[in-house]
Amino acid sequence: MATSVVLQKVEKRYGSLDVIHGIDLTIDPGEFVVFVGPSGCGKSTLLRMIAGLEEISGGGLLLDNERMNEVAPAKRGIAMVFQSYALYPHMSVYKNLAFGLETAGYKKAQIEPKVRRAAEILQIEKLLERKPKALSGGQRQRVAIGRAIVREPRIFLFDEPLSNLDAELRVQMRVEISRLHRNLGNTMIYVTHDQVEAMTMADKIVVLNSGRIEQVGAPLDLYNNPANRFVAGFIGSPKMNFLKAKIERVNDGDTTINVCGSSIRLPRRLKGSAGQEVTFGIRPEHLSVADGGIALATVDIDLVENLGGATMLYTKTPDGQNLTVALDGQQKVERGTNVTASFDPARCHVFDASGATI
Ligand SMILES: Nc1ncnc2c1ncn2[C@@H]1O[C@H](COP(=O)(O)OP(=O)(O)OP(=O)(O)O)[C@@H](O)[C@H]1O
Ligand SMILES: [Mg+2]
Repeated sequence: MATSVVLQKVEKRYGSLDVIHGIDLTIDPGEFVVFVGPSGCGKSTLLRMIAGLEEISGGGLLLDNERMNEVAPAKRGIAMVFQSYALYPHMSVYKNLAFGLETAGYKKAQIEPKVRRAAEILQIEKLLERKPKALSGGQRQRVAIGRAIVREPRIFLFDEPLSNLDAELRVQMRVEISRLHRNLGNTMIYVTHDQVEAMTMADKIVVLNSGRIEQVGAPLDLYNNPANRFVAGFIGSPKMNFLKAKIERVNDGDTTINVCGSSIRLPRRLKGSAGQEVTFGIRPEHLSVADGGIALATVDIDLVENLGGATMLYTKTPDGQNLTVALDGQQKVERGTNVTASFDPARCHVFDASGATI
């Protein structure tokens, strides 16, 4: 049975420094949850409090409805995988996998099948006699994950486990960790600052910023309906464009806003009033240069990136703001020329001065 995790107003203070400001979060049994956010936002601290490696300064941590704040790390049934693999260099892979079980008092005959099974899951059976220095980065990370598997924990925690790997291997390991989750069915919490990892791996993403939750939701919920400008800018690659705008008129079924000097009618009532300064947000992939949609502005093309499957235009609006346009496929557009960027009004976002979606 997979385990539920509940955080109730969890806080962390280092002396007089508050770093986690009362986090409420429920993780369902078997869920793959990703904590994502910029450096220093508190991802590792939160994970380490769940693991028991950091004391919880305030609030409660429940695993399967049982309070864990005072329970020793080894008694929580949690295994954690770090960015630095921290393998024992003088021990073989087999011994690295077996060591934690030996110190926990398991017998040789109990240990062997656990190690073999983990090695099989991770496809490192042929590497068991090698020392870590004779392994690639990806293989070392697999051993580190294997060390978590042999302990048969209720919950797996991963803290940026792929950061030391090259781009190609990251993608491969990302798929393997997702597969591991599917096969084992355990609750897993995965920390990353890489929004692509978050989007591709998570059942549920928790976006953190300065020790607070900005939004929790399924990847596409966050992409389609970001609660605020922070989430809108963090989720999605390339980043959402933000342009200065002003509300001109709010009617029952529509709102007119001024963006880049043109009045644009959006087919919904915004929670704002005439004269209010706002931010208009549109993702690069939701802009086009073909006919159709609402014309946003005629923009000067600064730079063109031909990626083969897509063409990226880095442009400037008439009032000098940056606007990135992502077009499908290979497009004949030249740097130094201009195009009219248009958009589908159903796919734009508007934020008030506090950053909230309106
Ligand atoms: N032992 C400590 N004493 C004081 N402050 C700390 C300590 N450990 C972490 N912090 C602070 O707590 C905040 C959160 O740190 P944390 O390591 O959780 O960030 P993070 O989101 O994991 O960042 P990164 O992506 O860089 O790993 C940071 O501002 C950090 O400086
Ligand atoms: Mg960290």
